[in-house]
Parts: sequence; C-alpha cells; structure tokens
Amino acid sequence: MNVNLLNAFQTDPQRFEHFSQSVAIGTQSIFCDLSKNLIDRKTEFALIAKAARAGLEAKRDAMFKGDAINSTEGRAVGHVRLRDPSDAEVRPVLDAFLAYADAIRLDDHITDVVNIGIGGSDLGPAFAVRALDQFTNHKKRYHFVSNVDGHEMNAVLRQCKPASTLFIIASKTFTTAETMLNATTARAWFLANGGTADGSSNLDTATHFCAVTTNVPAAKAFGIDATFGFWDWVGGRYSLWSAIGLSIAIAIGGKAFRAFLSGAHAMDEHFKTTPLAQNLPVRLGLLDVHYRNELKFTSRNVAPYSSALARLPAYLQQLEMESNGKSVDANGKPLAMSTAPVVWGEAGTNGQHAFFQMLHQGTDVIPVEFVAVKTPTYDAGNIDVASQATHHKTLLANVIAQAQALMQGKADAGGHKNFAGNRPSTFILLDALTPKTLGALIALYEHRVFTSGVLWGINSFDQFGVELGKVLAKDVEMRLVSGDATGLDASTAGLLGLL
Ligand code: F6P
Repeated sequence: MNVNLLNAFQTDPQRFEHFSQSVAIGTQSIFCDLSKNLIDRKTEFALIAKAARAGLEAKRDAMFKGDAINSTEGRAVGHVRLRDPSDAEVRPVLDAFLAYADAIRLDDHITDVVNIGIGGSDLGPAFAVRALDQFTNHKKRYHFVSNVDGHEMNAVLRQCKPASTLFIIASKTFTTAETMLNATTARAWFLANGGTADGSSNLDTATHFCAVTTNVPAAKAFGIDATFGFWDWVGGRYSLWSAIGLSIAIAIGGKAFRAFLSGAHAMDEHFKTTPLAQNLPVRLGLLDVHYRNELKFTSRNVAPYSSALARLPAYLQQLEMESNGKSVDANGKPLAMSTAPVVWGEAGTNGQHAFFQMLHQGTDVIPVEFVAVKTPTYDAGNIDVASQATHHKTLLANVIAQAQALMQGKADAGGHKNFAGNRPSTFILLDALTPKTLGALIALYEHRVFTSGVLWGINSFDQFGVELGKVLAKDVEMRLVSGDATGLDASTAGLLGLL
C-alpha cells in the first residue's frame, strides 16, 4: 500500500477529522493527529479486524482483571491498579508514602533529594520530575544517580551535605548491581562525613536514607529502616506509579501526585471502554505494527517540542524496547515478523539543528512523533509574560512547520535542495503539561505498547534479554582482578589485556 499524503487529503476531505481525536482527561485533553501517516481508512479497518482476531480486547480485560498475563514469570500485570482510586490494597501504601513525601517536602532542612536507581527505578522518576518542574518545590534539588560510573555519584555528592540530603534507594529487587554499589558508596560518604548508623545522632542513616522496593527484608538487611514497599505484579518499567515515584511525590507533593495518578486512570478508562476504532492507544499501537511489518520501518523518532519532556525518548526506549524487543512469542516460539522498532529522539527545536537533515533528506523513511504543549506553564518571574508568549509561539510554529515540511516536501531539479516529502508524522498535543496530563500521556504509551505486543503475540512484561550481560559482567570483573583470560575469545581476551 502506497499512500500519497497530499493526494489522500485531496481525495478525502474528512481525512483530518477521521484520523484525529481527543481524549478528555478531566477538564483537559490530549489531542492526537494521525492524519499525516501512511495509512488510509481501508488499512485502518483491516488493522482493527486484525486486533480483534488477536483477542486484544480479551487480553486487555485479562490485564485489568488481574490474570497472570505475564506468563513466563507467572505474574499478574497490575500497574493499572496503582492508579485506581478504588483499589483497597494499594490505597494504604500510597497514603503512607505520600505522607512521608509531604513531610520531606515541607522540611526545609532537606535541600537535596538523591534518587539512586536504574532502569525503571530511574527513568520514570527522572523524566517526570523534569517534566513537572513548574510544579516542584524549588527549595530542593533533585538528583538521579543511575550509572555505576562513579563520576556520576561523585558529581552529585560534590553538591550535597549529609545533614541536608535524603537518599532514596529505589530498586524493585534490591539486588541490582549498579544500585547496590551506588547505595553503598552513598552510605560510606555519609558516614565519612559525620553521619551515624546506630541512631546515636540526628545525622543518622535512619533519617537520611529510605528505600522503595518489593524486597523490604533486603533493604532492612542493608540497614535502611524507612522502607516503602510495592508488589511483584508491578513491572520495573511500569513502576513510577508506585513508591518508586517517591522522588516525584516529594517534588510535586502528594496532592499533585494523586492528580498524576488520576490522569493515568482516565487514560486507563479510555483504553478499557472505548471501541477499538476510537481507542487512541490502540490506534497508535496498530500504526506501529503496520509501520514495522508492512512498510518495514526500523525506527521511530520521538520529538517532544517541550524542554520539560526532554527525557521522554529515553523513558520510551525502556518502555517500548524492553517490553517488545523480543523475537519469540509468549510461548517461546520464534516470531515470523519483526517487532519493536528502535525508538530515539531529542527535544525540539534542538533536533532540527542535528538529525532532522536525515529525517527530511536521508535514504530511510523514519516516522516522527511530535509531542507539543498548547499552553505553557511558566512561573512568574524571570521571563516577562510577553517574552514567554513569543518563545512559545516560535516553538509551536516550528513543530507545525516540521510536520508540514516532512509531508509536503519541495521539488528541486538540482538534487541537493530536493525534499521528497510524503514523510509520515504523528502529532500529539497536550492542552497543558500538568501532573494530570503527564500521567495520561505515559499511560497512553503504556497501552500502546500493550497493543502492539498483543498483535505480535509477545509477553511484553518480562525482560530475559538483560540477563546474559549481567552474568558475564560478574565473570569479567573477576577476570579483571585475576588477569585470567583462559577460554575467552580473542577479542574479549585482547580487551581484558588492555585494562
Ligand atoms: O536490567 C533490567 C531491569 O531489570 C529493568 O527491568 C528494571 O527496571 C531495572 O533493571 C532496575 O531493576 P530494580 O528496580 O530491581 O533495581
């Protein structure tokens, strides 16, 4: 199927209306324009039929019902429960960590909050805290240490003082090597700089360290008393709604965190109750499948035209590629089709001055996903109101122009200035970037990944592909100490010999 976008708009005057929709999130909304994509009504219809045949609705309902749809690990997939206000098991745990978050938030003695975690225990909180900067308590600084590269920890500790720092050790399993090493280093720094670990002073680990984990005994064994638990039915990359979101809650406060959850819940309701043809996460997920399997696109660019959303591409890399980057189906049988595309990107307009050249004139067609915000949320102060409006108008003009340029192209016989055009893009527009709309946006992406995962027949909730490297790293680390290279391939042995 070869859609010519400009012709498609000519022949279907209702194309924009048909391929765009709004999802109400309380009084706000998320709007999505899919009309500049290489798809027509017939193909969309066929994709929806395919989704129905794949049992998408039944599988979605099974997730909401709490069935053990993470079949390889024998677990339910319950992140949607974390934002369901009627869930009696979740509520007291939520109340407890939000009460703690609010107490820390109001405590002006704590000026630095350091979240130590990696993967889902870092990317979601780091993304959301940055995204919601306009709603945060600016009397504190929020740091995220994820990498085992000691430079990262060093750079953060350089800015902190033990008496005014709270360390959050965020790890679902409380076994992740990077996080454990970083936590150990943070504690050693704390003790070396006047801290105590036996309750003998006000500067004690009991008040300056807390843990968020499903493995409370391991956190206690590490010497942390203030622990906030969650459940093994919350996947790491789906965990920012749990106590893993503690840094977010400290930054924006318990009330706003509840709004964040309620935005996600509104998207859950949309996903759960809307017919497939009008179901936004479903439409996005089906388009992903179409692009990957029919048009053979290998990647998707994510271009948030909002500095606050700058970490969205990194967040989505884990969500999408750790969930669906698989080559066997849920029963372990090899898949006949390609799965998760490479997701990559950078905030606009910065990307325009880097890789957009390739998006417009490169040999590969790469669908672009623009995410923009209609109304900015500046605080009063440094930039006057008129300048704020100018900045925002320029930003929005650029995002619209890029989508337009990709589609319409520009003919030039000379070659170098020729733009082929007909390059697809999706346009997501938030009324405003608030805790509520951010929650809804993230849930939109989660359900989209669920949809494509179902069509590919994947279990989107395990991640065995991360294990082999972890195991080998332990062996290599021992060999780095012993110098023993026996049994290694020549390249690995050669590299070891250099270190
Ligand atoms: O290595 C991958 C992974 O297991 C992710 O799925 C997870 O988000 C991350 O590591 C961190 O795990 P944990 O929260 O258990 O430290």
